[in-house]
Amino acid sequence: MCGIIGCIGRGKHTLDTLVHGLEKLEYRGYDSAGVGVLNTDISVCKTSGKIADLRGKLDGQSIAGHAGIGHTRWSTHGPPTDANAHPHLDCTEEIAVVHNGIIENYQGLRDELGSKGHCFTSDTDTEVVAHLIEEFIAAGEEPSQAFRTAIQQLEGSYAIAAVIEGTTGLFAARNDSPLVVGLGDGASTDEDGGQFFLASDVPAFRDFTDRVIYLEDGEFARLDGGLTITDSEGKLVSKTVHTVEWDAEETGKSGYDHFMLKEIHEQPRALRQCLRSRVEEQTATVDVGNLADLNPSGVQFVACGTSYHAAMYGAQVFREAGVPAQAFLASEYATAPPPLGDDLVVGISQSGETADTLSALREASGRGATTLTLTNTVGSTMDREFDHTLFIYSGPEIGVAATKTFAGQLTALNLLSLASVEGSRQRRELVPALRELPGDVQRILDDSMAEEVAEYYEDSRSYFFIGRGYQYPVALEGALKLKEISYEHAEGFAAGELKHGPLALVDGNTPVFALVVGDGEKARKTVGNIKEVEARDAPVVVITDGQSDAERYADHVLEIPESHPRTAAVLGNVQLQLVAYHIANRLGRSIDKPRNLAKSVTVE
Ligand code: AGP
Repeated sequence: MCGIIGCIGRGKHTLDTLVHGLEKLEYRGYDSAGVGVLNTDISVCKTSGKIADLRGKLDGQSIAGHAGIGHTRWSTHGPPTDANAHPHLDCTEEIAVVHNGIIENYQGLRDELGSKGHCFTSDTDTEVVAHLIEEFIAAGEEPSQAFRTAIQQLEGSYAIAAVIEGTTGLFAARNDSPLVVGLGDGASTDEDGGQFFLASDVPAFRDFTDRVIYLEDGEFARLDGGLTITDSEGKLVSKTVHTVEWDAEETGKSGYDHFMLKEIHEQPRALRQCLRSRVEEQTATVDVGNLADLNPSGVQFVACGTSYHAAMYGAQVFREAGVPAQAFLASEYATAPPPLGDDLVVGISQSGETADTLSALREASGRGATTLTLTNTVGSTMDREFDHTLFIYSGPEIGVAATKTFAGQLTALNLLSLASVEGSRQRRELVPALRELPGDVQRILDDSMAEEVAEYYEDSRSYFFIGRGYQYPVALEGALKLKEISYEHAEGFAAGELKHGPLALVDGNTPVFALVVGDGEKARKTVGNIKEVEARDAPVVVITDGQSDAERYADHVLEIPESHPRTAAVLGNVQLQLVAYHIANRLGRSIDKPRNLAKSVTVE
């Protein structure tokens, strides 16, 4: 939610660097955008709308400076207007601030500052920070101390960057919102000079450097001639410099019209990366390092959105292995925390930054649970804060709709279960299916009829998705994907649940997408459910491996290769991703940046 960027040492490229960084961060929010560039004074340009609108507004303006900050917004306080766009200024217009997060005590601070004569020009929580810094400078504090004192007044979550006239660099602080420093050409941690970057996420500056430092909660950074990082008490902190392991090109569209389509097509490679050096087919072994020793007696999964669907799948995998396991919506977990016992608590999060999941993990950790994060993002808050991490290695995912990372999550959940709680029989069954998975996904991508199905049903106003067992979370995921990028109504159901209410909504204009795998009892029962909707005139699209007679009752068929029911879930989902993509594309939707959403949801 919201992306912030800062840079210093880029000379005449300062403004370009900021705008380029914002484009890379636009997945975090696209309600408004702005930049503030520091020279002898601060030049600010901001606007409601997307980065393209900011580019338009900057056209013809000559804004130069040696340092600057930028912001792309997902609105929390106040509508997406020009006035509410960041950066926000103090009364003297000598201090500019950008912020990601929510300042919970902003109203009290605003009232207090207002009573001292400060004038506010926006509805945002962020603006109080600029006025607080102004207040402490007016009281005689040095700018860096005034910045620190101002931050210490804040309650809530924040990644904040500021520029202050009369100083030469950037000031930054974080609490519960991500912030990473990039060390560019000529930059080091112990000598002055060089280029430094600051951002909510690495893609913002990955074109310029792969050397990064992750800031922790309570830390402050000063970027001027060099880099100084201090803790909440002002003591110098020595930090590790990490090397980012993916390339800048991975954050481009590589010729695809949308990131989402590119990322759907990247699934074979992403899955290979997830499986590499972890599964050995000949010996049917799975290696996830010391995570195998966790051997949990119970598992609680916490996650949101697509990751929650992966959590539901993961809970089934562990239950099948005889381990009590449950999936919780992270936003509900802390409101009624379940008894913990010795349960392992697993947070699933592509970004590793989702506020609801973070707070659920913290709640569990605070009660003494062993915690594990399953994430795509090395160096994310969850990776750093909790006991263990299992990476899915999907590569950067930019489209707001999660695609390849869902496939990676399901795959990694199998690895965790096979290595820690399942026996050799399951490994002999699953390891070959996992090894086949990238190739099977590729076959679907090569031959899918999803575009034709999308064309046929693009005018429907309501879509249903049904599945049983491992296909049930996929039905939910298929519906989520379609609704979030097409803005059309879509619902996923456990196939057997349809007759307990939702069937009343089914008519001849409600396409029902049914996932049918194998020819066992689950498939037979789902075929029964298909007949029930068919009897109500609903058109039926069957996603199937062809082992049952489901196709007999289908208006359209989307084929998947025969596979294990667990890996078939990944395969069926690829067909549904393509259906969602093509429907949204035909409707002309903003596929990579759907309205009202953001990739990384860092507010609760
Ligand atoms: C999926 O397409 C969504 N964009 C969303 O549901 C997402 O999965 C959710 O916000 C959780 O994100 P995370 O995996 O980064 O925690």
